[in-house]
Amino acid sequence: MTEDRKGKATWLSEADDSRFSEIKESKHDIVFPWLVDAILTREPSVVLDYGAGDGRFLSSLREKFDGEIWHYDPSETLREIAKERLAGQRAHFLDDPQAAPAESVDVVASTAVWMTIETHEGCVDYLNAQFRLLKPKGRAFIVVTHPCFREEKYSTFDANFDDGFYLNDGVEFSVSVFDERNEVKFSDYHWTLSAMLKQASEAGLRLIALAELPDVDTGNKRGAPWLVFEFGKDRSTRATV
Ligand SMILES: C[S@@+](CC[C@H](N)C(=O)[O-])C[C@H]1O[C@@H](n2cnc3c(N)ncnc32)[C@H](O)[C@@H]1O
Repeated sequence: MTEDRKGKATWLSEADDSRFSEIKESKHDIVFPWLVDAILTREPSVVLDYGAGDGRFLSSLREKFDGEIWHYDPSETLREIAKERLAGQRAHFLDDPQAAPAESVDVVASTAVWMTIETHEGCVDYLNAQFRLLKPKGRAFIVVTHPCFREEKYSTFDANFDDGFYLNDGVEFSVSVFDERNEVKFSDYHWTLSAMLKQASEAGLRLIALAELPDVDTGNKRGAPWLVFEFGKDRSTRATV
């Protein structure tokens, strides 16, 4: 975590936020089209991208979806980039997700955000916010880099993680995201599958399905770089472990 001009905690520095936005990542070709199709299957009226960054995903969604698209990201730099990208596309920008009405969103999408959060409580807050905004039959599609394959080098990211630490929740590890022209390095935090499901359960989210997505064709075929959780709302089925 770093701080922006107003002293607010941000994920990257403002310069790195802009550079990150320029990188052409495998998730744009693999994860985003998969998510668009999954979301359209739900026939939503309102879709929120939570931790939406530069707005690239919402821009892809807009090509096939005429309903309301909502953007939330705590980074002002990325929000400004998203406003430019989505100009004229009828996007709604949330400054504070807590100020939006509860149960107002059919689908939340959130890509590559969960593992940027460094504490268990922070992760539960992140999930709670999505729970609050979802309609009772709403769905959250949450995408993370797969925690079981962090030793693999994929086509546009490389995590410096030793699987010997797999069971150590919250371990900080360094990540490099790159394309042919740019590279940005930052820290992520390792959450095991069991820790992520516990956090989701504490937030009232119930696992409906998982999808494990490949790298682009030219990339590493070992394991899976991306893991998608599909959650519904159900406070009555809290886990016991
Ligand atoms: C790796 S970027 C991913 C951006 C975008 N979802 C994408 O896939 O390109 C992580 C994003 O999460 C945002 N973020 C960090 N902590 C967050 C939180 N607690 N809630 C929502 N977004 C957060 C950051 O500002 C950053 O834009």
